[in-house]
Amino acid sequence: MNLQNDFINTFHQKPDAFYFSPGRINLIGEHIDYNGGLVLPAAISLGTYGVIRMRDDQLIRVFSTNFNDLGIIEISLHDLAYKENDNYANYIKGVFDLFIKKHHKINRGMDIYIHGTLPPQSGLSSSASLLVLMVYILSDVYHLDLSKTDIALYAKDVENHYMHMHCGIMDQLIIAKGINHKALLMHTSTLETTPIHAFIDGYTWVIMNSHYERKTTESKYNERVKECQDALNIIKKEKNISELCELSISDYNDIKHHLNEVLRKRVKHVVTEQNRVLKSIEVLKNQEAIPMGELLNASHSSLKNDYEVTGFHLDMLVEGALLAGAIGARVTGAGFGGCAIALVKNNLLDQFDQIVDQYYYQKTNLHASFYPVEFVDGVKKIEVA
Ligand code: GLA
Repeated sequence: MNLQNDFINTFHQKPDAFYFSPGRINLIGEHIDYNGGLVLPAAISLGTYGVIRMRDDQLIRVFSTNFNDLGIIEISLHDLAYKENDNYANYIKGVFDLFIKKHHKINRGMDIYIHGTLPPQSGLSSSASLLVLMVYILSDVYHLDLSKTDIALYAKDVENHYMHMHCGIMDQLIIAKGINHKALLMHTSTLETTPIHAFIDGYTWVIMNSHYERKTTESKYNERVKECQDALNIIKKEKNISELCELSISDYNDIKHHLNEVLRKRVKHVVTEQNRVLKSIEVLKNQEAIPMGELLNASHSSLKNDYEVTGFHLDMLVEGALLAGAIGARVTGAGFGGCAIALVKNNLLDQFDQIVDQYYYQKTNLHASFYPVEFVDGVKKIEVA
């Protein structure tokens, strides 16, 4: 990878600056970041590089190595409406559009070269990585000095209102604020974050990609968000709460008869998952591998049976990981397809990928990929020699 040369070959000019925005995994606390919950994600070394040069006109020209076939996409600062054909460039348009709506004086276009190392559709947040990257770039080149939290909130705004994906704040906030070697315990209603040492001596976190994509992920995700809102509206008539994660398990037992069967299962997941995050913090602090594995497994079962966001492929991947000796495994991110994570004893690592892949292939006819995990800093400007 030579980003400088690649930029010059594409735009025939030297670039002004280079940036990197990571992807993320979530260790535990799934589908509760839009319910005011505590979650435990980490930024990872796979991510999105951005190389830019300011222009003197109002054109944005963007090229992505992940969409070579689309060539250079040209956008005018005067026409930032969403267009299906603009594909991934809509994320970039959405960011420019938001800055203009927020009355930042954005008056020059830009040549932008994007190189993503996150496998697309893998549930490792390639879209949040691109959005946070672009917000950071605009904040940097226009000297706006946005805080990391504001950067995350801007990126979420584009995802929610321009792309119409009703996601929570977890992905954007971890990608903006990640810390080298740490996971962050994130309070999604106050946006407070605390660095957590999330490694257990003698064990490794492994990311496993199912390579299974489901086209309906977005609509199914939005359906879950809506179910949680419906449940909250019903529960609010009984209890004085503003978000579902304020319920304790005994509160849930008191009110569950007000909910139909589907909503009951959704709320049960939310309440028990919140509890598992709190237990995980203790267990990680005490370096207790087996209880951590049990929490991961319980999280996956809850996402499978109560929240219903896993599906056959992810279930088989997790099953394969457990058969290969993982101490625990679970889907990470929105689910429906994409990646799972496993906590694996170091002496099993040599054969782990092969055993899981064999099992997964037997069951699904698809091969899995595996990535070693490094936790890294959030979005930043980088030097390129
Ligand atoms: C996606 C969303 C996040 C979060 C996870 C599930 O990654 O973007 O906000 O809800 O799913 O935990």
